Amino acid sequence: MPETTEKKKVILSAIQPSGTITLGNYLGALRNWVKLQEDYHCIFAVADLHAITVRQEPKTFRQNILNAYALLLACGIDPTKSPVFIQSHVHTHAELAWLLNCYTQFGELSRMTQFKDKSQKHSDNVNAGLFTYPTLMAADILLYQADMVPVGADQKQHLEIARNIAERFNGIYGNTFKLPEPYIAQVGARVMSLQDPTKKMSKSDENVNSWVAVLDKPETIMKKFKRAVTDSDTVVCVGEGKDGINNLIGIMSAVTGKTSEEITAEFEGKGYGDFKAAVGEAVIEELRPIQERFNDYINNKDYLVEQYRKGSEFALKLSQRTLDKAMKKIGFIAK
Ligand code: TRP
Repeated sequence: MPETTEKKKVILSAIQPSGTITLGNYLGALRNWVKLQEDYHCIFAVADLHAITVRQEPKTFRQNILNAYALLLACGIDPTKSPVFIQSHVHTHAELAWLLNCYTQFGELSRMTQFKDKSQKHSDNVNAGLFTYPTLMAADILLYQADMVPVGADQKQHLEIARNIAERFNGIYGNTFKLPEPYIAQVGARVMSLQDPTKKMSKSDENVNSWVAVLDKPETIMKKFKRAVTDSDTVVCVGEGKDGINNLIGIMSAVTGKTSEEITAEFEGKGYGDFKAAVGEAVIEELRPIQERFNDYINNKDYLVEQYRKGSEFALKLSQRTLDKAMKKIGFIAK
């Protein structure tokens, strides 16, 4: 387990156990996290408390939490280097979230675009947790005095509010929380929908052909790529109005490490059909070892339990310090 006294900067991130991790999540986020482990002190979590802001079926939820944990490891996150824990196992998260709720304004939570979107989508269940989701996320980050948080565009606003809450708290009580910065990956692939390449790939898209899951079967992956929407041109090259092909080239490049020029040269004189099949094949090969490792982990529950217990032990120790500090500043009496 890394020593917290190391001078390495702290990076914290989390994923929700939503059941499906897409190729977009992998190429845009997870794969970069794996690389970050070398240069930073990384801490990762499965954000299961966040997940219940929408209704979960208990049996599926339980499985999804474990799957998300196993998938993080399968993607290459090494729990002996970077603690990986399950959010609900570390009680400081819910506790700090409560405190932070009292330093967060109704108005600023109302302006969160994700809240507005989600409350429209789940209009039958606009619960208070959905509303205060950002304060829990702020707690996740601030508890570990994280220097940086790798976030996609959809989570940027949540990181900003975390900074604002921290700044406000520090302003009242003196320096308590480190202000986290967004970590922008140098080479973060932005993977678009295979069916509407002007939109980001998202598992919530009801057209299942628009996204590829990291755990999709090879034949499913191939089928989805073969059906990918392209254009009426015939040349495999990056261009305006060629969103579908641009996206496929981006995926091919992310997976093989080849530049778009190299890919264009390779497919000169070949049609879109050949290209789509080649991208499908390259993605299948990229995901194959991950899928194999995932199956190994998920069939070795004892190992997973051992790792998530170690992870939460570490996380609790570290986060308790911050929670204690914040409580003392507010004026709570020590136990
Ligand atoms: N809200 C994030 C998402 O849905 C997940 C998350 C929870 C997170 N806590 C976090 C991300 C802390 C970064 C840091 O993607």
